[in-house]
Amino acid sequence: MWYHHYRVSSNTQLTSNIHRVVLESTDTPISKAKAGEFVMLYIPAVGELPLSVFKQKEEELHFVIEDYGGASSRAVNLHKGEMVGVRGPYGRGFTLKQNTNYLLLAGGSGAPPLLKFVEEAQSTPGVSVTYLLGARSASELFLLDEARSMGARVMVSTDDGSMGYKGLITQLAEKLLSEATYDALYACGPEQMLLAAMSLAKRFGVYFEGSFVRDVRCAVGVCGLCVMEGTGRLLCVDGPVFSLHELEAAQHGG
Ligand SMILES: Cc1cc2nc3c(=O)[nH]c(=O)nc-3n(C[C@H](O)[C@H](O)[C@H](O)COP(=O)(O)OP(=O)(O)OC[C@H]3O[C@@H](n4cnc5c(N)ncnc54)[C@H](O)[C@@H]3O)c2cc1C
Ligand code: FES
Repeated sequence: MWYHHYRVSSNTQLTSNIHRVVLESTDTPISKAKAGEFVMLYIPAVGELPLSVFKQKEEELHFVIEDYGGASSRAVNLHKGEMVGVRGPYGRGFTLKQNTNYLLLAGGSGAPPLLKFVEEAQSTPGVSVTYLLGARSASELFLLDEARSMGARVMVSTDDGSMGYKGLITQLAEKLLSEATYDALYACGPEQMLLAAMSLAKRFGVYFEGSFVRDVRCAVGVCGLCVMEGTGRLLCVDGPVFSLHELEAAQHGG
């Protein structure tokens, strides 16, 4: 496998199990990724991990990584100076249109592609963004100031009520959708949250896109590992972002 070479330039702990890892290119950097597109991060002697690009400057790549116990455990423990490989970007990201009022739902490590979307939306005429981040408690919330500084209206939900709305992020979204009109609802996070967000979008007649997670190996549509059950679509080339229409049309043979 051929990789672009990067050196770890910093690793900052954001919550008990989520880190921000910044890489600096040591040869040619990868080409520009859109919000929702992903790369494969190669850690020597460990293997590869699909990750959404959270921020990208000319030589730098920023990731927000949650420790799930496998390769991601090693990724959150990368030290300054370690060398890694990156291939990509791959997949299809979120659609960004002018003059649109977006409601974004981020659950845990689902935040990175949506924060990148907030950044891209800043320079798009007529766009307004409400960014919701949900977690179990206040100590698990992160990068809220970063989202605010990019012009988003930021709201949070916590299961225990320690900050913001007490309850699930989808309950907060339901409240907002009942009170005001949004043109599009975009979500990234645990699958249960995505499915709940999808049914909210259907109920309120709002356009929906969600970024899904499946095991990814080749990332180029060859191995078939990342198939989205019941749709025949491959997450790595047709996704990871799918619209409600795409998922339903595929299920009904469209
Ligand atoms: C397109 C794409 C983009 C991604 N972007 C990011 C990102 O920006 N930041 C990030 O932290 N992760 C991201 N992920 C998920 C990340 O790749 C997984 O965390 C990783 O594959 C888990 O690897 P692991 O080897 O540590 O855990 P594994 O050994 O694969 O799994 C350990 C345990 O954790 C569970 N688990 C693994 N991943 C998840 C998950 N996402 N949600 C809930 N439970 C899970 C497994 O079911 C298993 O029980 C992305 C995944 C995809 C497909
Ligand atoms: S990961 Fe191989 S086809 Fe998608």
